[in-house]
Amino acid sequence: MTKAFVVGHPIKHSRSPLIHGHWLKAYGLDGSYERIDVAPVDFGDFLRGFHAQGFAGGNVTLPHKEMAFHGVERRTERAQRVGAVNTLWLKDGVLWGDNTDALGFIGNLDASLGTGWEQDVETVLVLGAGGAARAVVAGLQDRPLKRIFVANRTGSKAEDLARDLRPGSAVSLETAAWEALGRVIPHAQLIVNTTSLGMAGQPPLAIDLSRAPRNAVVTDIVYVPLETPLLAAAAAQNLRTVDGLGMLLHQAVPGFRRWFGVTPEVTPELRAVILADLEAAR
Ligand code: ATR
Repeated sequence: MTKAFVVGHPIKHSRSPLIHGHWLKAYGLDGSYERIDVAPVDFGDFLRGFHAQGFAGGNVTLPHKEMAFHGVERRTERAQRVGAVNTLWLKDGVLWGDNTDALGFIGNLDASLGTGWEQDVETVLVLGAGGAARAVVAGLQDRPLKRIFVANRTGSKAEDLARDLRPGSAVSLETAAWEALGRVIPHAQLIVNTTSLGMAGQPPLAIDLSRAPRNAVVTDIVYVPLETPLLAAAAAQNLRTVDGLGMLLHQAVPGFRRWFGVTPEVTPELRAVILADLEAAR
């Protein structure tokens, strides 16, 4: 039997076991995927020891993604760019780390908008400059876009992000002032919220979308609630929207493939399983 895990602290709210459990069953595989709570002081030991406990690999979530980045022996180029690792596996005795959030973000756009959506998008506006924003920008940089603007309440963090992620990319990466979003929005065919604003219990992200291009797509990586105030405002302007749940589902695909050897599909059934769980938790 192949065993995998998701490690974090706390971990009980992670929905990854539901996703991987659904796929294990759907593909009839002899495997398991379990939650493991590991405190930060013990994470180094965990990284060195999980293979001896019989695990093929697993996912890493808060607050360990940066520690995992530093603790692995090899990283994918994408993980290197993002500066965080959320997926671990062993290959020929070497501990590898990847960041699948970038792929999850892009995979969700491909699935929701149809491949080739970039043809209608020249300029992207990314709101926020935390770890999630880094993954989103790294994913976008793999696509033939002209320009990405990053805007963050704390401007220096947007500058840091742009400085770190700019090298080697064909897509222009610039910062925009949080106070001057109104000047960028009319040019952005894709607007992405990576901040925690709009999440249940947080204030909404209140931006004026009335001057957004008519063909703009607005997407949020927050998925509780599924329709954030931002997405509701976009829908009210007749703009296309993509919710954040798909990113969670798509980021799980590469890990499952590595540990269990099957490329799983993000299906409406899987989405319904997670949606039911989100509903039950309300
Ligand atoms: P993650 O790793 O999930 O991206 P994070 O690193 O804590 O989480 O980043 C949270 C993001 O939400 C940041 O961009 C943060 O802006 P600051 O860098 O200025 O803190 C943004 N954010 C959180 N609360 C906010 C608020 N009230 N207004 C504007 N942005 C906010």
